[in-house]
Amino acid sequence: MYQLYRVLILPVLLGNASAWLSFPKQQQTSILRFLENARKFGPVGSFRSIQDQDDVVSAAKRLSGGNPRPADLPLQGVHRLVYSGAPGASSGKLFGTVAGQVTQTFVNSTHFINEVEWGPLKIELLARRQRKNAKQLDVFFEETTIRVFGQPVSRKRLPGTSGGSWKYLWVGVVEEGPKRKLVRVMETPSLFVLEHILDDNEY
Ligand SMILES: *[C@@H]1O[C@H](CO)[C@@H](O)[C@H](O)[C@H]1NC(C)=O
Repeated sequence: MYQLYRVLILPVLLGNASAWLSFPKQQQTSILRFLENARKFGPVGSFRSIQDQDDVVSAAKRLSGGNPRPADLPLQGVHRLVYSGAPGASSGKLFGTVAGQVTQTFVNSTHFINEVEWGPLKIELLARRQRKNAKQLDVFFEETTIRVFGQPVSRKRLPGTSGGSWKYLWVGVVEEGPKRKLVRVMETPSLFVLEHILDDNEY
């Protein structure tokens, strides 16, 4: 019964997810190779040579066979940064060669939090996302919070009218070792690669 749910009913509920269940082995191999390489050069791409960064970007552009309508995908839970080509703090880079750990946590169907964590320090950016088309979302920044040992020490409301955009290059589910992961590869325009470990009942 569970198998039936997973193979027949779940894909219908999630609409686009059905394509993932018959994910060809060939594509798994190329996305896994890409992921491995991005991890090796990441998470802060700007610590690497221009050549290395360019290689990751061109490999990302060559990926094929992901979800055809990635912007319509429901997102939940915590997504960990694998690689960022961003020159600034959104890659986790704080000062010099010091970088924090970056995560993106989906609060609900409209909001998410970009977070940089470094020891007791946490910098959070609350943002709203909005579908632009099947492959693109617009992002609007709403609030920043700085926490030390979990306690907010500074909070600032932003106008919520500007931010950025996510242009998906590839989104799909991969199996890496025993784990199933949702992998998102996007341009903001800097390249971002994020992964989210899936529960058995997700997708
Ligand atoms: C989602 O969460 C944000 C931030 O907590 C909140 O402002 C917003 O109203 C919530 N939206 C929905 C649809 O629940």
